[in-house]
Amino acid sequence: MATTRKCVTRVQRVVPSQQKRAESTALHFYQNRQLELYASRELRPLSLRQLIFFGRSLTESRLLTSANYVRTELPVRIAHRLRDLQALPYVVVTQEGVARVYELYWSAFEQFRRYPQVNTPEENKQFCDFTRRLLDEHASVIPNLYLGLSLSSPYLPPEQLDRFMRKMLTTRISRRVLVEHHIALSEAYSKGGGSNPTEQHVGIISTGLNVGDTVRRCIDLLRRRPLPSSRTCWSEVVIDGHPNTKLPYIQEHLEYIVFELLKNSLDATLKRHVRSTSLPPVRITISEGVNDVGIRVSDQGGGLSLKDLTISRPEDLFSFSHVRNAKRLHAPHLEKLRSVANTHQGLKATVHEQVAKWNGRNASTKDAQDGREPRLGIGLPMSNIYSTYFGGKLELMSLDGWGTDVYLRLPKLGTNLEGIEV
Ligand code: COI
Repeated sequence: MATTRKCVTRVQRVVPSQQKRAESTALHFYQNRQLELYASRELRPLSLRQLIFFGRSLTESRLLTSANYVRTELPVRIAHRLRDLQALPYVVVTQEGVARVYELYWSAFEQFRRYPQVNTPEENKQFCDFTRRLLDEHASVIPNLYLGLSLSSPYLPPEQLDRFMRKMLTTRISRRVLVEHHIALSEAYSKGGGSNPTEQHVGIISTGLNVGDTVRRCIDLLRRRPLPSSRTCWSEVVIDGHPNTKLPYIQEHLEYIVFELLKNSLDATLKRHVRSTSLPPVRITISEGVNDVGIRVSDQGGGLSLKDLTISRPEDLFSFSHVRNAKRLHAPHLEKLRSVANTHQGLKATVHEQVAKWNGRNASTKDAQDGREPRLGIGLPMSNIYSTYFGGKLELMSLDGWGTDVYLRLPKLGTNLEGIEV
């Protein structure tokens, strides 16, 4: 009797678990077929100008078209990246952080794919809430990806690693832009501001972003940063050239780039002139060309040949591979990255989030006591990616022993399509 009961129990245990495994395998095959289907579809990249034109004379029907464009375009864009993740060597996929990113994207892909058509303004409101939630859930993607790929660096050739990261990060920006733009259009429409052709903003795009104002905002925020105890002020920042230059652009993106470049210059100058009583200024030159807007950030921070830098060419600072930039695998760097990756909010992506963090930060860490943020080494590679997203370019020139010049060039007309690779 006892034996029979044992057998029955075993059978009852085994059968459901086998069945479950078979079901889960079948589901996996089905999901992968869906993934292939979506990944075989063409992307529909847009330019700033198209985003502005479409959003400028907004009607209910256009708003719903915008919602359904986001709803159908996002799963295609995510499917391409999921396929890239699946193509990574197993040793990479098993690194800390990578699986988390993969899960987040699978989940977002499934949710977008199943999301029903948006037919009414009320349904659009729900759709906006849904996308807001996803934006929030994906806040930790960059540090997780960065951690996973830093740990994978020994197993991937630097070209492959950088190409992969570049695609992941550029298309992430692109997805967030589409979603945030749609949310901003929906908010403006619900406040009755949908069809004002003189608006300075259309969705998240500033139709005539004043470069000088953006630079001044960044200077102001950065110079309010806590200083190391040995100093009483930051370098002066001089603006020259054509500060009133305007271009259609996403303010948050330009702010991010200028903020990071200027932060590097101010920090390098402070470090280089640690024993001097006065600091040389940082110079920002703005130029308006026929097709481009240029911004040069010039400092006397000693250039890139400082002894603690482990890179050999300035552009290696954009690389995520330890072969090009040995710091990527240094233990303290990985430790900082791990702690950021494990917080829900991840990196403070916008300038204002970074500033808010300084103001409220816990002053017990060494970086905080020095008056600086823990440096993750992501500001420059991310600035490079933001610069190229709508066809711009970022270049670094080092005058070793003297200083660094960084050149940012952005197309002025907003006609370049998003630079997203399939
Ligand atoms: C991301 O932030 O990584 C995204 O892809 C956002 C999207 C799911 C709304």
